[in-house]
Amino acid sequence: MSEQTSPQALAKLGAALIIEQALVDGRWISGSGEPIVVEDPSEETRLGQVPSLSGEEVETAIAAAARAFPDWAARKGKARGEILSRWAGLVTANEHGLAALISLENGKPWKEALGEVRYANSFITWFAGMAERMDGRAIESAKDDDLILAFREPVGPVAAITPWNFPAAMITRKVAAAFCAGCTVVLKPASATPFTALALGRLALEAGVPEGVFSVVTGANSQVGARLTGSKLIRKLSFTGSTEVGRQLAADCAPTLKRLSMELGGAAPLIVFEDADLDAAVEGAIAAKFRAAGQTCVCPNRLYVHQAVQEAFLERFTARVAGLKVGKPFEDGVEIGPLISAKGLDKVEGHIARTKASGGRVLTGGGRHRLGGRFFQPTVLAGGDDRLFAAEETFGPVAPVFGFLTEEEALSRANASEFGLAAYLFTRDLDRAMRAGRALEAGIIGVNTGVISNAANPFGGVKQSGYGREGSTYGVDDYLQVKSLTLALG
Ligand code: SIN
Repeated sequence: MSEQTSPQALAKLGAALIIEQALVDGRWISGSGEPIVVEDPSEETRLGQVPSLSGEEVETAIAAAARAFPDWAARKGKARGEILSRWAGLVTANEHGLAALISLENGKPWKEALGEVRYANSFITWFAGMAERMDGRAIESAKDDDLILAFREPVGPVAAITPWNFPAAMITRKVAAAFCAGCTVVLKPASATPFTALALGRLALEAGVPEGVFSVVTGANSQVGARLTGSKLIRKLSFTGSTEVGRQLAADCAPTLKRLSMELGGAAPLIVFEDADLDAAVEGAIAAKFRAAGQTCVCPNRLYVHQAVQEAFLERFTARVAGLKVGKPFEDGVEIGPLISAKGLDKVEGHIARTKASGGRVLTGGGRHRLGGRFFQPTVLAGGDDRLFAAEETFGPVAPVFGFLTEEEALSRANASEFGLAAYLFTRDLDRAMRAGRALEAGIIGVNTGVISNAANPFGGVKQSGYGREGSTYGVDDYLQVKSLTLALG
């Protein structure tokens, strides 16, 4: 199919994948609670509804995950990998529809949504390949008469709680790694974007994922989240979302001592040194900052540019940002969609107002877009107080730029944040790149690039941005535990 299909046809393709039921133990159920309405953020209209599952219905999904676990874990990795490969094939076969579905429920421009589907699928493919390469270790004992064998075994049934900003990729990054390891999964997608998760669930079933191995439960956090965190059967929680919610979930999981992976908030710095290739820095900053309309945890939240090149950078960067096309997701050439919610718009406006109050200037944008609704102008700010942006994610299309004079100053301001997810730096000096890259307190560093999201890259943070790694060969470790066998030698 052409990637130039009409907006109406794309919307129809996405809508055709909507399932208004939850997936529990291989069955589609309508749930007993008041359904949750899902909106199209670009039209601010009702897209559909999903069930609000009761605590008992969530328990059914958990019990199914526990029941299905021994058989799934006992299968050869190769067999699980084959199922993952079939899932990947089905995702590819449906990629235009899935992208349209993401655009409908998230508002992301369709081309960007298609990029997300491919990114999401790269995790399935990655872990499909890894599933038959799982190994343990033979360890030389400290004693003469025995041998130690260390096996890596799946941790057990897993709960995954995923955000709305990547309705597909955050799911596959967790679920494919869990399946690779031999874990079963109960997934709770964000209530704003549950349809992509449900569509992925259907394709997983079609690919041969056995009943109970993958449930997709929808509903209120108070019911669903609480059952997942409180359950003794669930042995691990993987969460992507805010630090505040992550802390609460970690506390809720403490009584049952679950393993945790926490991919939490960020306030990424992006540093442009005086010797940087400015065109690369501008393009890197655009790619990193304006992806998903600025609503990713790895978006640079503050740009530090050496004063010697600040004017030149700001001129080129502002011109590029002013030219970004804002619009509805299926319109041709659109680069920036709406924000997910009115609350998101308020936060963005608040950050701009506070920057102006601290002496900052608006170089382009600065307000709501003429399209109205949840659309906001791509914005560049210069000067003012950077501490706000080190402390709070803006989660919108706003790039605040600050000057600096020395490498030491740039690094110290970059690290003056409780968060540490991503960081970016631009320089032509390899020594400086290594030095600064190692000194930055973050889990994922981009050097001369704004694109760090990649199935092969260990993704995760330090400090209050959480712990655990997703994707890459490390990504499966979070779903495995080590068992040792000590063999007496005759
Ligand atoms: C996120 O914003 O949480 C994930 C971004 C990514 O995977 O690139």
